[in-house]
Amino acid sequence: MSTFKALSLAFILATGAAAGAARADDMNGLGNRPNLGEKITEADIKPWDISILPDGTNLPPGSGTAAAGAKVVAEKCALCHGEGAKGGKNAALVTDAPLPPGQIEANKTIKNFWANATTLYDYVRRAMPWNAPRTLTDQEVWDVVAYLLAANKIIDEKTVMDAKSLPQVKMPNRDNFIVRFPERI
Ligand code: HEC
Repeated sequence: MSTFKALSLAFILATGAAAGAARADDMNGLGNRPNLGEKITEADIKPWDISILPDGTNLPPGSGTAAAGAKVVAEKCALCHGEGAKGGKNAALVTDAPLPPGQIEANKTIKNFWANATTLYDYVRRAMPWNAPRTLTDQEVWDVVAYLLAANKIIDEKTVMDAKSLPQVKMPNRDNFIVRFPERI
């Protein structure tokens, strides 16, 4: 064997041995990655799994009324959305203005634009109040949702909102949306 060949063989054997040693340290069987972190559990995911689908999938238990919601709005929403959420510094959440046909630039509101009532629950719970998102209890969100739908005259003010009744509320502008993947709703 030439000296060159002998050196090459020694090199291959040495690197092979180093790789073997690294594998012996690989306790989690994931290959030669840093052995950091731990497996995420269902309980870890649950607080983040708050998306509500248009058909109401994932709505929490409980129910809400417009009367109770009016109090929450006065305490936690009126500051920005005005008295009764009829418009203030920020968007009016209660309004009768229709969306003029063909005028997509017109002021869009929950009543004249939103396609699904269930979005109200998802949006308010995850994003409002603007200055302290995710501070409302599920109960407060149920009540606010009932208030906003009743004040917009989409439901009767005595109608109780829960995981069964909310998905059945038909939003006025619903049929003007083109649903690209109806089978996914
Ligand atoms: C600190 C100010 C502030 C407070 C308090 C607040 N909001 Fe908002 N809200 C906003 C802003 C800003 C937006 C975004 C408006 C926009 O898109 O132009 C918004 C948007 C919304 C929208 C969407 C409106 C639309 O037509 O797209 C809803 C629904 C809503 N808020 C509900 C609430 C509710 C319910 C409360 C009380 C629990 C609340 N907000 C409290 C500032 C606030």
